[in-house]
Amino acid sequence: MIILGIETSCDETAAAVVGDDRSIYSNIILTQLKEHRPYGGVVPEIAARAHLDYLDDVIREALINSGKDLESLDGVAVTGGPGLIGGVTVGVMTAKAISAVHNLPFIAVNHLEGHALTARLTNDVKFPYLLLLVSGGHCQLLVVEDVGKYVRLGTTIDDAIGEAFDKTAKLLSLGYPGGPALEAAAKKGDPNRFKLPKPLFGRPGCDFSFSGLKTAVRNTVYKFPDGQLSPIDAADLAASFQTSVGDVITDRCNNALDSFLKTYTIDNPQLIVAGGVAANLYLRSCIEKLCDRRNIQMIAPPRKLCTDNAAMIAWAGLENLRRGINSNLDFAPRPRWPLDGL
Ligand code: KG4
Ligand code: ZN
Repeated sequence: MIILGIETSCDETAAAVVGDDRSIYSNIILTQLKEHRPYGGVVPEIAARAHLDYLDDVIREALINSGKDLESLDGVAVTGGPGLIGGVTVGVMTAKAISAVHNLPFIAVNHLEGHALTARLTNDVKFPYLLLLVSGGHCQLLVVEDVGKYVRLGTTIDDAIGEAFDKTAKLLSLGYPGGPALEAAAKKGDPNRFKLPKPLFGRPGCDFSFSGLKTAVRNTVYKFPDGQLSPIDAADLAASFQTSVGDVITDRCNNALDSFLKTYTIDNPQLIVAGGVAANLYLRSCIEKLCDRRNIQMIAPPRKLCTDNAAMIAWAGLENLRRGINSNLDFAPRPRWPLDGL
């Protein structure tokens, strides 16, 4: 089975061709950095128009690079939501057109399911597994029981984790995109200079909270004359922020592991980390330490497959299609689409 995947839910215009033997035949990602950089964040209308401009060429390139033609495909998968609705609509309409013209099954994929199943594309991962899903719009701990079967253990009660990284990077004037810039700055910083809170640390449950941490960073910045930080100040504050996030995540994952291992009997329990923030090597190392301590296998996909891409959408489409699940051409793009149906 060979599937074309299309992703346009945020600021990456992406297309990929993936096979059921876990081959990634091609994986083209065009990031709209120059379009959004002047605004310091993604502008939905600009993103939608850029997807419209780029998507045909990106799909063409993905097909050429894969060495496959449209006739050899078994289906077209596209992010059907959640995401910025203009961009999602561009992808969905394009995928519908390809599917209708070439008489191929059409699969509208939940973007979060794309992240959630990526580790099954890159590694030997069996259901059920514990998933830490950390992206620009989400921060959740879930048990992935099967394709389409998710049990939520915890979620953020305010900001998403990627959003917290991006907003903190902006406060520290670290540049755009914020998450990777903050990680780079933190590497050079002293995490012990500023004391920041660790929201919900040590409390029962698996929920997250990041807005208090962000406010604490803002209050610290305001204590500097005119709010002006030197590169060293910014690096130290970035390191403190990242350390607090690492401690909180470790604590929440520890609680989630307790609940996962109590409910499910598994020979080789696995904790999967996925989503754009899973590209952060410091956070990965925090979770790896926890997993080593608890004798759990931790798996994080290669960094390029953590941030938004279409290989994960093709793969999630493939996992659905081989279970006989596809979508009708009257599928309506969904700005919101929770994985657990809540
Ligand atoms: O999964 P993703 O590419 O898009 C969404 O589905 O949201 O995640 C994007 C988020 C952004 O907030 C970005 O700043 C964050 O992932 N991110 C990182 C890193 N790379 C991307 N955050 C921290 N450290 C990184 N290295
Ligand atoms: Zn994503």
